[in-house]
Amino acid sequence: MGELDRRVVVVTGAGRGIGAAVAEGLAAEGARVVVNDLGVALDGSTPEDGPAHEVAAHIRGAGGEAIADASDVTDFAAAERLIAKAVQEFGRLDVLINVAGILRDGMIFKMAEEQWDAVIDVHLKGTFNTTRHASAYWRENRGGEFRLINFTSASGLYGAPSQPNYAAAKMGIIGLTFSCANALRQYGVTSNAVSPIATTRMTMTVDKGRAIGRYTPENGRLDARNVVPAVAYLASERSGWLNRRVITAGNGRIGLMNEPDLQREITASSGVWDVPTAFAEIEDSFRAAVQHPNIFDRPRG
Ligand SMILES: NC(=O)c1ccc[n+]([C@@H]2O[C@H](COP(=O)([O-])OP(=O)(O)OC[C@H]3O[C@@H](n4cnc5c(N)ncnc54)[C@H](O)[C@@H]3O)[C@@H](O)[C@H]2O)c1
Repeated sequence: MGELDRRVVVVTGAGRGIGAAVAEGLAAEGARVVVNDLGVALDGSTPEDGPAHEVAAHIRGAGGEAIADASDVTDFAAAERLIAKAVQEFGRLDVLINVAGILRDGMIFKMAEEQWDAVIDVHLKGTFNTTRHASAYWRENRGGEFRLINFTSASGLYGAPSQPNYAAAKMGIIGLTFSCANALRQYGVTSNAVSPIATTRMTMTVDKGRAIGRYTPENGRLDARNVVPAVAYLASERSGWLNRRVITAGNGRIGLMNEPDLQREITASSGVWDVPTAFAEIEDSFRAAVQHPNIFDRPRG
């Protein structure tokens, strides 16, 4: 018996990369998995059925239970059919894991409207679409140990300069995750986000056909399978105490992010601020607190 014995799990974007590792890893723990993937290129173009079917076949070949689904998470009606398929095939839905994603990088001052829309559509609207239908099912069938697990990114948490669309979508997903945590707890659902790190086509920089940097296939710490144990824990029945948080996973580490909280606060003595006093007190109180560089800080030039 595995940690996820007979739990029914839908994983979007499970035809490749981290999603495939999650689908296979959870199936190895006994989960019954719907492997969703549109089979697109990194920029979201040229869909094909192959990846979803290959991962589902691989799971079945290893003795697990899985079915494939090649639908597009940006399609509201298709997302409803995806959730219905899990219930139809396996009798219920316990866990939804939203992993599907694309990239269309560019600096904010050069970004085309279409680049913005495509990335928001797959990540943020795609996560909404499946969650909307899963949550309606969970509300109808309240009382289970239901789990919503949404994939976010350090790109949003720390502000990757060349990914304004992706960073915005990934922070939008955190807001959606926190809202669902508060709205769905009463129906037995926990809702958390995972910020992963792994070598996949999304992170590998390739020069003349060779991977460069630390994201290489040889770097086992960054293997997508190293993200799976944290996701498996969140998906399990044991994690009911853990809600409305961001968990980091990958590179041999599992982390618990801080909850957003006030760092400093100043209050006008009369209850009403005037501009000169606000200027002085903001600098006095906040300035020392914002001197910490983050991973994307570069000298100005
Ligand atoms: N790899 C990392 O280090 C890293 C870091 C931070 C966040 N992430 C996030 O983790 C998730 C997985 O990323 P990955 O690195 O495995 O990427 P990947 O490109 O290997 O896999 C993404 C999968 O999503 C599928 N997909 C894209 N659009 C879809 C759609 N409309 N409907 C259904 N499926 C669709 C693709 O076909 C692909 O198989 C993404 O949400 C990504 O943003 C990854």
